[in-house]
Formats: sequence, structure tokens, C-alpha cells
Amino acid sequence: MINVRNLKKSYQISDDRYQVLNDINLDVSKGEFVSIMGPSGSGKSTLLNILGGLDTPDSGEVLINNINIDSLNDKKKTLFRRENIGFIFQNYQLLHNMTVEENISMPMHADKINKNIIEKQVKDIIDAVGLKGKEKNFPSQLSGGQQQRVSIARALIMNPVLILADEPTGNLDRKTGTEVLKLLSNLHRNNHLTILMVTHDIYAASYSDRIILLKDGHVEMDVKHEKEGENVDLITNILEKLNS
Ligand SMILES: Nc1ncnc2c1ncn2[C@@H]1O[C@H](COP(=O)(O)OP(=O)(O)OP(=O)(O)O)[C@@H](O)[C@H]1O
Ligand SMILES: [Mg+2]
Repeated sequence: MINVRNLKKSYQISDDRYQVLNDINLDVSKGEFVSIMGPSGSGKSTLLNILGGLDTPDSGEVLINNINIDSLNDKKKTLFRRENIGFIFQNYQLLHNMTVEENISMPMHADKINKNIIEKQVKDIIDAVGLKGKEKNFPSQLSGGQQQRVSIARALIMNPVLILADEPTGNLDRKTGTEVLKLLSNLHRNNHLTILMVTHDIYAASYSDRIILLKDGHVEMDVKHEKEGENVDLITNILEKLNS
């Protein structure tokens, strides 16, 4: 479902060129829940943004369902993104002058979908993410966890094949973060959603079934592990070894 080949990305800062991603190779199958970890500045967000077509690589190839997103023109890229990829960010990125239901339905309006279909789907998804009764609230009238649920609902509304989440629990306390992780994990399990989640948190990563560690621009480690909450010790050990 995702194939990354010889991906390179650098940034020019005054006279220096800084190689952020240096020959990344990666394959993710449909239905995997993958965590991307690594030190701050190791290129996790850069990689996620390139995978989602929000940023372009210097060289190399990214295929999503065999489509090279970088080869699409801007219009086709926007369409591809809207129909196939759901984004979730650490800071939710909701529109503050729109209600919960308006934020969630936004991607559907862009596609000029029938109003009744939109209403039904928004209602279903609001129920699924546990936001019933909050339809008319504005983001400022929600807790952090509820705002992240809205952004998850918005990411899901177009029925994407892939969810890209950049530190989705980064702004949440442990209890609220756990609720969001359980929601993602259920969506992954029940709907066979493919999820790539950047996280600093070993506990959050323990909800995924594979961890990719980025370091110095390349994939330092790529391990699959058992499901959900039980492997914190194992992962902690591996990460400690790597850092020592
Ligand atoms: N637009 C840009 N111009 C120049 N340098 C950039 C740009 N975007 C990112 N970088 C640099 O690329 C490196 C990787 O950034 P990135 O945001 O991908 O890191 P990250 O692993 O997500 O870090 P964090 O865990 O802190 O979010 C950083 O050193 C950053 O300074
Ligand atoms: Mg980042």
C-alpha cells in the first residue's frame, strides 16, 4: 500500500545543505498500524508530509496504492489526498469559526456531495468517535481530547485508505491520550485502516503493531511487535539500547 524507494530530502539553510532524509526505503501493507519514532529533528514530520503529498522529496519515489503522488499535478494531488488520506495533527488544526459538524463535513462539501448523504455520514461518524451532543459546539468549547476526536472524525469522513497522524496525543494527558489511542486502534482493527503515527511516546507506540525508528536520516530500526499496551517494556529496552 505504501512503497518508499530511495527517498531523499534536504534543506538549504544559508550556505549549508542539511540532509534530513537520506535514502529511506520502506514498505507498509494495507491494515498495518505503524509508529514512526526518532529523536527531535530526525525528519519524522518531513517523512509524513512527503507521504501525504504535503511536501516534495528531492529524489526517490513514494507510491500510495501504486500511485506516485509526486507525479500528479496540483489539482489531481489535492483530489487524491482528499479521497485517500486522512491527516491528524498534534494541534488538531480545526477551523475555529466552524462547529464540530461543520469541521467534520468540510472535506465532503469540497466534493459537492449530496446534503442528505453528508448529514447521515456526519451523524454516524460523530457517534463513532463519541461526540454525540457536541455537534453545535465550536472548537473553543471542547476539551483537547474532544478536539482531537473532531480531527479524527474529519480525517475519516471521506473513508480514506490511509491515516497519517503526527503526534496525535502530543498535547493530551495520559488518560485522554489513551482514549484517542484506543479509538485509533479500534478503527485500525475494525475497519482495517492503515495508520502511520509519529510519536515520541513509547506508550502510544505500544498501540501500534510495528515501530520504525528514524535516526540520522535513515531507518535505524524496523520492528513488528505484539498488540496493544503490553509491549512497553520490550520497546523501552530496544530504544534504550539504541540510545546507549
Ligand atoms: N521548511 C524547512 N526549512 C528548513 N529546514 C527544515 C524545514 N522543515 C524542517 N526542517 C529541518 O528538518 C529537520 C527535520 O524536521 P522534522 O520536522 O521533520 O523533524 P521531526 O523528527 O518531526 O522533529 P520533532 O520530533 O521535533 O517534531 C529539522 O532539523 C528541521 O530544522
Ligand atoms: Mg515533528
